[in-house]
Parts: sequence; C-alpha cells; structure tokens
Amino acid sequence: MFSLKKILVVGSANVDFVIGVRQAPELGETILCRSFRKTCGGKGANQAYACGRLGGDTAFLNAVGDDPLGGELVRNLQQANVDTRAIRTVDGVSTGMAVVCVDEKGNNSIIVIPGANNLCDVDYLRRNRARFEESDIVLLQMEIPFESVCYAVELASGLHKTVILNPAPAPDSLPDEVYAGLDYLTPTESEFKRLTGCPTDEVEELAVHCKPLLEKGTRNIIITLGSRGALHVNREGHTLYRPPEVQAVDTTAAGDTFNAALARELADGRSTEEAIVFANMASALAVSRVGAQDSIPSYEEVLDFKK
Ligand code: RIB
Repeated sequence: MFSLKKILVVGSANVDFVIGVRQAPELGETILCRSFRKTCGGKGANQAYACGRLGGDTAFLNAVGDDPLGGELVRNLQQANVDTRAIRTVDGVSTGMAVVCVDEKGNNSIIVIPGANNLCDVDYLRRNRARFEESDIVLLQMEIPFESVCYAVELASGLHKTVILNPAPAPDSLPDEVYAGLDYLTPTESEFKRLTGCPTDEVEELAVHCKPLLEKGTRNIIITLGSRGALHVNREGHTLYRPPEVQAVDTTAAGDTFNAALARELADGRSTEEAIVFANMASALAVSRVGAQDSIPSYEEVLDFKK
C-alpha cells in the first residue's frame, strides 16, 4: 500500500563499481582488490528506490544517458514501484557512474563520474514543474548541478511542499535562500562540519553550530552520526536518537536509506520524532547488508525489525 502523500526525489543515478578491499589505499599506494561488483546506485536513485521499497508513492526526476547502464537503472527503479516517466534520457552522453571502495569494516569512499547527472539542469526541472506541484514532499541531494538544487528548493518551498535536503556531497556553503526554504537539512557529521566549520563531533557543540542555520530559516536539522545515531536540532532544542546495534558490513546507501525512510514516514503524517526512529531502523538494516540499492529493506522488514 502506498503512502498517503506523494514524494518527489530529484537527484543522481549512477552505476556503482564496488571494489572490496581490506583497507583503502594510501596516497601513492597500489593495492589488489578482494572483490568486485557492478550495482545500481547514485544518491538520488538510491533514495527514490528506498522510498519506493518502503511503500512511498514516489516519482523521480533525473537524467541518464542513452547507454545500457541508463536502462538498467530505470528498470531497477521500476521494480521498486518508482514512477520513472519523467526521467530524461540524453543521446550521446554516458550515464553517471561511481567507484565505491568498501573496506573490511564496511566503511566506504566514493568517487562519482557525473555524466548525464549534469543534465538534470534547471531547464529540465522547469519543464517538470507539474511534478513538483503534484508532490507533497521533495527530497534532494547534491550530485546534480548546484544551481538545479537551488532552483528545486526555491520552487518546492514556494509551492509550500515539505523540502528535505541531504547535502551530500557537501559544498563549502549554501545560499541563505536555500536554508530559508528547508524543512529538513540532513547532513552527516562530516558534511555538517564542512557547511558550518564546526570543529568537534561533540553533540552539544554540534547543536550550538546549528543555531545560525536555524536563524536563516531551516526548520529542522538532523545530523546523522553513524553508529551514534541521529541528532535532531530545531528551535525547541535537540535530541539524540540512538540506533539499534547491528554488525556493519557495508555503509553504502545507509544515509540514502535514512533520508528515504524519513520522507516515507513524513508522507504518512508521522511526527519528526517517529520518522527518525523508523529511519534509524531502516538504515541499520541497510548497513548490515552489502550493496547500495540491493541493501535497502522493504517496509515490512523494517516493521519486523522494530518488534
Ligand atoms: O550514497 C551512496 C551512493 O553515493 C552510491 O550509490 C554512489 O553512486 C554515490 O552516489
């Protein structure tokens, strides 16, 4: 059964080349990998896929190339019931790709080759204004052009949609108008440090550094802290939500699952607190499995895990 409200995800789609290593190489070092796989990924597509898998009524705006990789990504999204009709296919351009290096502790480092993601441009978004109008929640990340993200936030907030920005990868700063348009900003600890210059990962200090962003108009900031949980900060105060303990095997798409699960629960009218608890469960499950989209749990799996 679909969520009550509609979710629009705007973002990247990549084919991931996942390289398993004991330890990521140091500068100047050459190493041999332990395993290699090709999977469907991209922060935007992962979040759209996760919203769909979790039962969200989801549409996706993005650009892919006219190569076989683009077709693969679109078909995978369709299997999660994502509405892919507005995805742009661009002739003569290659679909986005990413090299994902996963170490034996499950930590990853990623390099993205944007390709067609750069053609998820302002013109394309403008042509798809109706998609924004018919949605209730708009979920964004930052693997498409910066001006597209700014435009999408402005358009969605002007239409009074709930706007969630996962600032990944994080720029050095965001314009004040973007902060003003956000209902939720969801950085990781390192993305938050990059955006604000916050020097420590101590919870009280992180909350203090949220204040200027709240003053710019962002309604809620949720900093994802990996195995420490998720820190929710708004004008009323701050709360740390601890996640369930799991054996981490691959953290790829854990943040994507968290954001999608948050959006999915908000789409059913749940409170921010309830949505964070659910998102912590969903991302813990994703961390305990290998892969990006193939690690994302279904709604039923999260409910079972909660029991
Ligand atoms: O968040 C994980 C994703 O980041 C990967 O799937 C990769 O494609 C990059 O976009």
